[in-house]
Amino acid sequence: MLKEKVLKAINQQINNEYYSAYLYLSMSAWFQSKGLPGFANWMFIQYQEEITHGNKFFKYVGERNSQVILKAIAPVDTEFENVIAVFEKVLEHEQFITASINKIMDDAIAESDHATQSFLKWFVDEQVEEEANANEILDTLRLINGQGNGIFMLDRELRQRVFVDPTATVV
Ligand SMILES: [Fe+2]
Repeated sequence: MLKEKVLKAINQQINNEYYSAYLYLSMSAWFQSKGLPGFANWMFIQYQEEITHGNKFFKYVGERNSQVILKAIAPVDTEFENVIAVFEKVLEHEQFITASINKIMDDAIAESDHATQSFLKWFVDEQVEEEANANEILDTLRLINGQGNGIFMLDRELRQRVFVDPTATVV
């Protein structure tokens, strides 16, 4: 069984991951309403990925013979200032998630929970990618001032993204 401190932190992280999913789904809806289907697609895939993150933690808790306690998902923003503001929020949120995962790692180390440390390594690596993806799009958006023809081109590019379950190849 998981030690109480680690279990509590993972249960909170499960909520964080499903909150992330809900946040990105809300952003997808916003983009949809602004006539940017490519951005909406990118955010919808982001939403799907976050669900797989939550599920991965969920299954792990079960494997460790412990109980997941689901909590209410906090309300998410539904209106955003502009496209750049959305991605600034994504980056800021992913940085928060990274810090949160690092904190669980600290707890697992303090509790000498080697299995959880090994499990969390996947998330540590995943967060590097999440922040890099958000940064890359944000850089492009700043380059084109978040408007005009550039947005149209970027929207077409983001339309190409397809969902691949990031957790599928890892047992
Ligand atoms: Fe996540």
